[in-house]
Formats: sequence, C-alpha cells, structure tokens
Amino acid sequence: MGFPSQRLRRLRKNDNMRRLVRETGLSAGDFIQPLFVVEGGGVRREISSIAGNYHLSVDMLVEEARELSGLGIPAVLLFGIPEGKDDSAAGAYAPDGIVQRAVQAIKKAVPGMVVITDVCLCEHTTHGHCGIIRNGYLANDPTTQIIARIALSHVEAGADIVAPAAMMDGQIRAIRTTLEEHGHHEAAIMAYAAKYASKLYDPFFKHGTQSPVAFGDKRSHQMDFANSREAMREIELDIEEGADIVMVKPALFYLDVVYQARQRFDTPLAVYNVSGEYAMVQAAAEAGRLDFQAVMQEALVSCKRAGADVIISYYAKEAARLLNRPAYSWHSARPLPEFQSDAPALDGNARGVSSMDVKVGS
Ligand code: PBG
Ligand code: ZN
Repeated sequence: MGFPSQRLRRLRKNDNMRRLVRETGLSAGDFIQPLFVVEGGGVRREISSIAGNYHLSVDMLVEEARELSGLGIPAVLLFGIPEGKDDSAAGAYAPDGIVQRAVQAIKKAVPGMVVITDVCLCEHTTHGHCGIIRNGYLANDPTTQIIARIALSHVEAGADIVAPAAMMDGQIRAIRTTLEEHGHHEAAIMAYAAKYASKLYDPFFKHGTQSPVAFGDKRSHQMDFANSREAMREIELDIEEGADIVMVKPALFYLDVVYQARQRFDTPLAVYNVSGEYAMVQAAAEAGRLDFQAVMQEALVSCKRAGADVIISYYAKEAARLLNRPAYSWHSARPLPEFQSDAPALDGNARGVSSMDVKVGS
C-alpha cells in the first residue's frame, strides 16, 4: 500500500485542498482574552512586553469587552491591579475592589460575555506571594480560606467563572464548598490545575500586574517543570474537588502535558499561552526574525492539535480578527488570493507571500 499508490502530497496541492482535509480548526469561540484592569478613568495604556494588550480603567475595559464580543470572543479573564496592598490581601475580597467593579461593569454592559476572574493573592500582597507567609513558608490552609472568600466576592459581583491560580492544595474544594453554601450553584470553576513554576510569567509580573515577588520564588506551590505524571494527579484532584474546566499552563513547552490530559480526562481542557510565550514571538517579529501572524497561527493551532478545547491567549483579539475575514486561509499566513486586495494589513507581514509558504505550481 505504499508509494506510488499512496502519495500524500496529492491532498496538499493548493489552499482549498488543504482546507478540505485540515484536521484541526480554530474559531473565535475557542478563545479567552486576558484583560488587565486598573484604577482611574479613560486609561488605555499599552503593556510594553505584551504589546497589543493594555492596562484599562473600568470604563475602557467595558469598551474593550464590547469590541471583543463583536469579534465573537466568548470570554474574558480579568486581572486587577489594585491601588492598595497589604499582607492579608484584604483588598482582594472587598465588594468594591477593582476586580469586583470591573465584573459588574462588564456584566451590565455586555451581559452575554462570560466573565472569568483570576483568583489569587499575589496581585494584592505587598510581597507578591500567592498567599499568607508564615515562618518564611507559604501557609496552605489559611491561604485557601482567603481564596474562597475572594472567589465568593467575585461571584457575588457577577462573575460566571472563577479561576483559582494559587496552586494551594484543596483550594478547589474550599471554593466549591463556599459557593454551594452561599447558594451559588451555577458559578463554574476553571482550575489552574497544572500550573508550572515557569520563568515565562515574567512579562506578566513585571509589566502586566506589576507584582513581582519581593523574596524567594513560587516553587513550593507551582509545579516542577520536570514532571508530567504529577500534573495528571493535580488535574485529577481538581476534578474530584469540583473543577468544571481544568487548565495546563504554560502552553507551548507543555503540550505533552496537554496531550496526556486530553487522553485521560473528559473535563473541558484549557491551556494558557502565557506572557513569555507571547513576548518571545513579539520580540522576534520586531527584530525581523519571525512572521508574527504566521507564528501566532502555528502556536494556536498547536494547542488545539494537542487537545485543548479552550485557549487563553494574548493573541485572542488579533486571532479573532483574522478568523473573521471571509475564507481566510488559516495557517497560510495570508488571505486567499481573491481577498488579498481588500484585506487590511494587520502588520507589516500580513500581505504577500511569506518565505515560509511555498506553493506548488506557482
Ligand atoms: C496568578 C497568575 C499568574 C499568571 C496568571 N495568573 C502568575 C503566577 O501566579 O505565577 C501568569 C500569566 C502570564 O504569564 O501570562 N495571579
Ligand atoms: Zn498568584
């Protein structure tokens, strides 16, 4: 049954042939757009290391949510940058905290938008750690109590999904119990289930939430990046404790973990394509070494191919814009010829034939 009866190139000869047999697709509906909310009014400041993403005050955040909704993006993931911090992270569960106000404003203006909140202490503590420090160690159970309070306050503000990010043992159970006790039976939990201790979060801390750790690191709670069996245990426990969606984070260096999780669990699976992954591509594109849109597409499709249902990505808006163009030839880094003339160039590389795209017969 080998050559020449089988010539796999038969089905690769042009764009439409390739589209026909493409195994993995993307749609705007796959994405969650992370958004950073700050105090003030009329603020829309680009985040240097995650270009194309902004610090937004609540009023501007609402505008952004509207635009994302118009592009078909179903969900946003909110990060708050509060003005005040303290070591018990009390501001994190204040009913009028920055995240709570942001949730209310989006749900009022764009009710259909799925609003997800990142639930952690690190944006709210002076030392930048994800919980309460006792004797130099991140104390698990006192921290989960606070996490549950934060989650409850987000749900009371109207959040559809809470996303606990701290990797504390038992945090999903603590949240689920608290939500059920308060009658919030419909609020969903997206667990940062297998979250690795990765240096790929640096742009997020340095420029995104501006909450780098004052001492130490996060390796006593986030996972060792050498492990993948342990990731299956983390995910399994989070599902048992009541997670509705489980997540692997980061994405691209961890697609083996995504693939294994997909084989083992039927719970919806998310990947978080983190700030460092985005920053690498962006920096390389700026230096003229990589084609931003082409590599973006390859990265996002890889997440789906590995088995993710949901992609949290700083590319979300840009990707949705591309996907909304008629008959866009995904993965060829340019529109089909008939749409090429009127397609808006989204960056310097958007038009014309890329050196990576070799066409048979032309
Ligand atoms: C926790 C949180 C982090 C990220 C998202 N949520 C950092 C951490 O806890 O270590 C990183 C996201 C990124 O790098 O894009 N609040
Ligand atoms: Zn944290």
